[in-house]
Amino acid sequence: MSTASESAPEPPWSPASWRDRPVAQQPAWPEAALRSATDELREIPPLVFAGEARSLTDALALAANGEAFVLQAGDCAEAFSAFSANSIRDKLKIILQMSVVLTYGTGVPTVKIGRIAGQFAKPRSSDTETRDGVELPSFRGDIVNDFAFEAEARRPDPQRLLRGYHQSASTLNLLRAFTKGGYADLAQVHAWNQDFVTASPEGRRYETLAGEIERAMRFMAACGIDLNAERKLHEVDFYTSHEALLLDYEEALTRQDSITDDWYDCSAHLLWIGDRTRQLNGAHVEFLAGVQNPIGVKLGPTIEPDEVVALCKRLNPDLRAGRLMLISRMGQDLVADRLPPILEAVRDTGQPVVWACDPMHGNTFTHSSGVKTRRFDDVMSELRRFFDACYTAEVWPGGVHIELTGENVTECLGGTDEVLGDHLEDRYETMCDPRLNARQALDLAFQTAELLRR
Ligand code: PEP
Ligand code: CO
Repeated sequence: MSTASESAPEPPWSPASWRDRPVAQQPAWPEAALRSATDELREIPPLVFAGEARSLTDALALAANGEAFVLQAGDCAEAFSAFSANSIRDKLKIILQMSVVLTYGTGVPTVKIGRIAGQFAKPRSSDTETRDGVELPSFRGDIVNDFAFEAEARRPDPQRLLRGYHQSASTLNLLRAFTKGGYADLAQVHAWNQDFVTASPEGRRYETLAGEIERAMRFMAACGIDLNAERKLHEVDFYTSHEALLLDYEEALTRQDSITDDWYDCSAHLLWIGDRTRQLNGAHVEFLAGVQNPIGVKLGPTIEPDEVVALCKRLNPDLRAGRLMLISRMGQDLVADRLPPILEAVRDTGQPVVWACDPMHGNTFTHSSGVKTRRFDDVMSELRRFFDACYTAEVWPGGVHIELTGENVTECLGGTDEVLGDHLEDRYETMCDPRLNARQALDLAFQTAELLRR
């Protein structure tokens, strides 16, 4: 018999159950056009399949247990305009280079996850943007509306969901070809170094390391090991991820696995919940609680330890290793204060999470020239403090989450081949947050490997 004090039973989860919850950060879609676009998405093939998401869960379980390290990296926002084989290849190159540096430097495998093939939608701090007295809807990423500051361009257009899906499919197709078809072969380790990187101190350091790897492989071959037969030397597992922001899109790509009957969001292998949409009773948490993909959660400086514990319980009630990656993005000033009580609280619940650091999003500021930037030194300082906090709490620092591009852009300040304030505008190309260029990213990988070796 129920009493008035008992709360009503939770309705069962379904891919649509998020619709009964408060939902943040959704565009004001025109309804009929949205329905027609999502009806089409529901019918077309998934981008990834459930077995791959399970393999990533297994790989992340190793990272939760101190036996692997996660590198999650890519653009802040992919663009419809910057879509080419070269840009995909160059992003893959720098991620492969960083992975080699991390794996060689630490002796544990690197789990490679791109912010790619679906990282289009952006949360915004304001629904509108005002310029010279004109107020228009904010730009929310190419999958929603257009960057140009014009009324027509800023109108959310559901056909963009389909274009985003198709660009993701082509991107993923090329990534699969590169990573399984010979390009990611360790024998190519020199070829990943791009010209503008080779000339830098990090580039030269990388060349030395690549030479050592080649020597080690020649040594193994001389010992009679058949290197051709070792699949793992010739191809890599590369996973995709994005922020699961647009729930209409994610729902439409959510499918029931025929092997396990479980639900998977087949838009990417890993989905993460952003710092602005992590409300315990909100729609994003409800949606991701029910899909079986590995899930990331960004933890900004306003979150309290008991909220993190509650989120873990809701998203991973069965304490499955590899299901959850908690991504601290506190900022270099706050991380030493804010993170330790969270690490301890979660550790004490026995949650086998991957602890990762996003040293980018808490360290953004507006330069006097008016553009958004980040200092390489602040990024490194947050990473160092994150590692310190993990070591003190006796948890494994399991990964980094970085915004980068393979190109020689000038969006973040500093690094060994220093980008100075006056250079910011030379090649400032991001539509959203400032990204590390390939040299800065490689530098970060070398320094992170040193932190991990401690
Ligand atoms: C992002 O990763 O681009 C982002 C918006 O992050 P956060 O939710 O941590 O602010
Ligand atoms: Co960003």
